[in-house]
Amino acid sequence: MAAFPCDSDDHDTGHAACLGLPQGAEGVIKGNVVATAHGAAYLLGSRLEGREMSLDQPNGRQAGHPVAPQFPGRWSPRAFTERELSEAEVMSLLEAARWAPSGGNHQPWRFVWALRGETGFAAIRDTLKGNNPVWAGKAAVLFAVAAKDTVLNREGTEVPNRTAGFDTGAAWISLALQAQAMGLFAHAMGGFDKDALAKAIGLPSGHTLYCVVAAGEQGPAENLPEGLRERESPSGRKPVSAFALRGTF
Ligand SMILES: Cc1cc2nc3c(=O)[nH]c(=O)nc-3n(C[C@H](O)[C@H](O)[C@H](O)COP(=O)(O)O)c2cc1C
Repeated sequence: MAAFPCDSDDHDTGHAACLGLPQGAEGVIKGNVVATAHGAAYLLGSRLEGREMSLDQPNGRQAGHPVAPQFPGRWSPRAFTERELSEAEVMSLLEAARWAPSGGNHQPWRFVWALRGETGFAAIRDTLKGNNPVWAGKAAVLFAVAAKDTVLNREGTEVPNRTAGFDTGAAWISLALQAQAMGLFAHAMGGFDKDALAKAIGLPSGHTLYCVVAAGEQGPAENLPEGLRERESPSGRKPVSAFALRGTF
């Protein structure tokens, strides 16, 4: 594979560093997939253009260090189009969640989902708080995301799974990045009535609800009511130095 600088006009091949790939991996971009010489394939949010291989992101965000564009490229809009999702598309979102890593490979995450127009969708929507039902009610699909709190140990006893929440977070972001790769978006919400949602979805005991996720195609901000419209832009972040400490705190 030919190596070339990041500002090359040829957008069909790329240097590992430009793409945020592991060192030594050169990539070939086909559609939104980067296939590397090491056999790995990286899904990108959109076809790479020269300017995307920089710290400036197409959505206006600025990375502090070179990073694969799907990370700053993912954000949480609230405006949807009318576009419906097929069951097959929802399965692709869930398939991404399926491959998340988990402690002991216990895969504690649980997703209860319903498409807009279905009774289950309205049941989940009606448990959302504040502005959430206003915008998330227009999503193509809603997911209630929960985790099983315990695992069966070798003695056949259910014991607490300390990493259940952490693992479920990994599953949610996998789903969100898959949505982005499909030209969709996913927006998590912690603003819901826990008891009402548990009842609405028939949550079994020994499970914890973590969030509701709304997903669909992004629409124009004008689709939102005033008050939400002005907030429809990607947020910033603290620098890496604010959360990463070398050696000790
Ligand atoms: C667990 C969780 C709970 C959230 N709760 C809400 C919510 O109730 N309503 C909402 O509009 N956004 C909610 N968000 C979205 C966050 O506000 C958003 O992810 C954060 O501001 C970072 O912005 P970004 O996702 O656009 O990068 C939630 C996100 C997460 C991960």
